[in-house]
Amino acid sequence: MFSKARILCPVLKQKVMSAEAAAALIPAGANVGMSGFTGAGYPKAVPNALAERIKEHNTQIDPNTGEKPFRINVWTGASTAPELDGKLAEVDGIEMRLPFQSDPICRDRINTGKMNYVDLHLSEVAPYAWSGFFGNMDVAVIEVVGIREDGSLIPSSSLGNNKVWIEQADKIILEVNYKQNARLEGMHDVYYGTALPPNRKPIMLTDPAQRIGEAYLRCDTDKVIAVVETNSPDRNSPFKPSDEVSKRIAEHILAFFEDEIKRGRLPAELLPLQSGVGNIPNAVLEALDSGPYKNLTSYTEVIQDGMLKMLKSGTLAMASATAFSLSPEGIEEFDKNIEFYRNKILLRPQDISNHPEIARRLGVIAMNGLIEADIYGNVNSTHIMGSRMMNGIGGSGDFARNGYLSIFMSPSTAKGGSISAIVPMVSHVDHTEHDVKIIVTEQGLADLRGLSPRQRALEIIDKCAHPDFKEQLRDYFERACASGRGMHTPHLLNEALSWHQRFEETGSMLA
Ligand code: COA
Repeated sequence: MFSKARILCPVLKQKVMSAEAAAALIPAGANVGMSGFTGAGYPKAVPNALAERIKEHNTQIDPNTGEKPFRINVWTGASTAPELDGKLAEVDGIEMRLPFQSDPICRDRINTGKMNYVDLHLSEVAPYAWSGFFGNMDVAVIEVVGIREDGSLIPSSSLGNNKVWIEQADKIILEVNYKQNARLEGMHDVYYGTALPPNRKPIMLTDPAQRIGEAYLRCDTDKVIAVVETNSPDRNSPFKPSDEVSKRIAEHILAFFEDEIKRGRLPAELLPLQSGVGNIPNAVLEALDSGPYKNLTSYTEVIQDGMLKMLKSGTLAMASATAFSLSPEGIEEFDKNIEFYRNKILLRPQDISNHPEIARRLGVIAMNGLIEADIYGNVNSTHIMGSRMMNGIGGSGDFARNGYLSIFMSPSTAKGGSISAIVPMVSHVDHTEHDVKIIVTEQGLADLRGLSPRQRALEIIDKCAHPDFKEQLRDYFERACASGRGMHTPHLLNEALSWHQRFEETGSMLA
């Protein structure tokens, strides 16, 4: 159908087959490493064919025989899309998933105990895999733009963990996606110098625009068992237009940046920006774009629509990431103007895009979302009411812990005002009070740097809490201080999580 125009390696040309035939080569119980990061560069045909095979197999199991259902373990770069996570979860085909997901069906399986989920810092997936903590990788399924004559691979719209999966897997299935722009070739920088302690060497990346690796993925063609040709676009939902709350959050952050520049704590072109995915981070990017900034840089995980706009306007000089995360309109814009974007964007493996050493060296400004923060500055960005997984920590910890500034942002309330995003004690901790420097809601911005826990509590309640919850928070804090149990981080142990309990019992955190 595609005349194998993108498969130049003669040996691999011989291995072209259908998605169904390739899926038949994946055994039950296999550890499967798939490409894909935030809806970009994930395999589009083999997971679907595998889901069909799993469904057929599992419906034929006689419950009396005790035969185990066909399931696999799925390792990726980060979240993927309905064609991968959704399809496999729908047929209950995933035993264990790592390291990040945002799929509603997966989420449901995780929260009902039907799927194990290992949620970990994205920079740590590669070293964990090299160390063997996840076991042996049986098969890697990797989307690429093309295969070169020597068997090396032109990476797709995300790099994620592809280098590691290709190195570690016993067998490799390649999906060559003709829908991905062929001009992606040359936009990648695959670094081959990483090692585990004690053999680690400094990674000599001192500027977001610097190339330290190769444009292609090395691949042992002997391990390739199938090549599948596809022609499907990456799928990401469109961004919602910025609402009033996102705009106000963005305004607070911009005012903060201006003040930091005036005080000489940030340069006029700021520091390399890291921005999480979602509508609020996108609103912040939009606000930066309409501000006075020029020649900013970005050292981040994903390139979203807002960053394309910033590159177009000159607000952003270049962006380094591991993946795109573009809406359908964003993909169209990128494809149309790829020659403009080509030398302004670099995609790196996620263990480099998120590397703590580099985030610290460059002094990244990390901007991520939160589910709830407590009055002392601990942040929960993964668990609803302490127990139910939302998405995962993703790369937020990689950047927040190691960057120059860690900013966490959220509306001050959720679920129509019944939940306060600022609570006495978070019901789960992802980012500790030691890692969180700035908290922002539409109400205001709390700068926690240099403050003690009690000072932080007053700042957070005053600046970030919604007026409906302010008095209730002050009352908790004052009674905790008066309890005499310990004045460093005052808490009332029998009440610290009572707001969550009240919500579960009454549908509201309001007393
Ligand atoms: N209690 C209960 N539910 C809450 C809540 C709270 N304190 N805060 C938010 N929610 C709910 C919202 O109501 C919404 O539910 P809905 O989908 O049913 O409408 C959902 O959680 C998402 O909230 P929203 O305000 O739309 O947040 P978001 O899309 O900006 O995402 C995070 C916020 C924290 C979930 C998201 O940023 C995330 O997954 N972060 C962790 C990973 C990360 O930071 N990645 C970037 C690193 S590069």
